[in-house]
Amino acid sequence: MAALHADRTGALAAGPVLVTDGAPAPRTGVAGRSGLTHVADSGDAHGTHFGRVPYQDPGRPERMRQFVVIGHEVSTDPADISLSDLPGAGRLDLLCRCVATGVFLSHGIREAVRVHLVVADEFTITSDSDTLRHLHPDERNVAARVRDALDATADAIGHMPADVSPGVELRRMGLEATLDRLLDGGGSGAAADPTLVHLHEDGDPLVDAAPPTDPVFVLSDHRDFTDREKSLLAERAERRVRVGPELLHADHTVSVVHNWLDTDGYESY
Ligand SMILES: C[S@@+](CC[C@H](N)C(=O)[O-])C[C@H]1O[C@@H](n2cnc3c(N)ncnc32)[C@H](O)[C@@H]1O
Repeated sequence: MAALHADRTGALAAGPVLVTDGAPAPRTGVAGRSGLTHVADSGDAHGTHFGRVPYQDPGRPERMRQFVVIGHEVSTDPADISLSDLPGAGRLDLLCRCVATGVFLSHGIREAVRVHLVVADEFTITSDSDTLRHLHPDERNVAARVRDALDATADAIGHMPADVSPGVELRRMGLEATLDRLLDGGGSGAAADPTLVHLHEDGDPLVDAAPPTDPVFVLSDHRDFTDREKSLLAERAERRVRVGPELLHADHTVSVVHNWLDTDGYESY
C-alpha cells in the first residue's frame, strides 16, 4: 500500500488537547511537540504533510469504509452527558474511541471513512473523515461533538440531517433506517456498492473472503446485539464475521478491521 506509507512522516507526541475552533483545522489530531503553533500549521487541506491519508493504491477504484456502532445506553438528552464521566454516560468513552479509531491515524486522518453512532435506536450521528474539522482523537473532544449533535436534535426533521459541525451530522434515524439508508447508497459521495458486514464474535473468520469494495461494518457497544438488531442484520448483512478468536472491545475490533483492509486482506504490507 504505497500511498498509505507515503504520508507517514513527521513525529508527534501525545500532548495536551488543544481545541482550535476558528483556527485552521488541526489535521494532526493530537498536539505536536511544538504545541499550538505546530497544530495550527498542520493545515486542513488534502495533500498537506499531515493531511488525509488514502488507503487505496492509485488507480484502484475509490472505496469507502463505514462503521455503524450501536450505542444502547447513551441518553439522547445532551444534559445527561458529562465530559468528566464518559463511562457513566452509557459508555460514551467506548463509542468515542470507535469514532477516533475509525477516522484517525497516528499522524493524520484517513480518507473515505464514515463512522455512524446509533444512539438509543433513535438518532444516528455520522462523522465523515473527509470533511471533519477541528477534531482531536481524545475521547472528551469526540464526546463534545456527540453532545453538540444531541443538542441539535430539533434541527433533524424527518430524515434530513442536522449539520452539527463540519463533518458531523445527526439524523433522526435508528438502526433500521440507518442500515437501509447506507445500503441504498447513503447520499452524495457515499459508497456505490455497499456490502453490509455484521461483526460478531461467533461469525465466520474474516479471512475466509476477500475484503469488499465498499464495506459497511456493524458493531455493538459493550452490550450484546438485541434480538431485534440480530434479525435486522440477518435480513441485510451479506456476511457475519469474526476478526479473531477473542472477544474484543468494539474500538479494538475497528482497528483490526482497518488493518485487514489496509493490507488487502493481509496480502500487502
Ligand atoms: C465487547 S463486544 C460486545 C459484548 C459481547 N457481545 C458480550 O457478550 O458481552 C463489542 C462488539 O465488538 C465486536 N466484536 C468483539 N469481538 C469481536 C470478534 N472477535 N469478532 C468480530 N467482532 C467482534 C462485536 O460487534 C461486539 O458486539
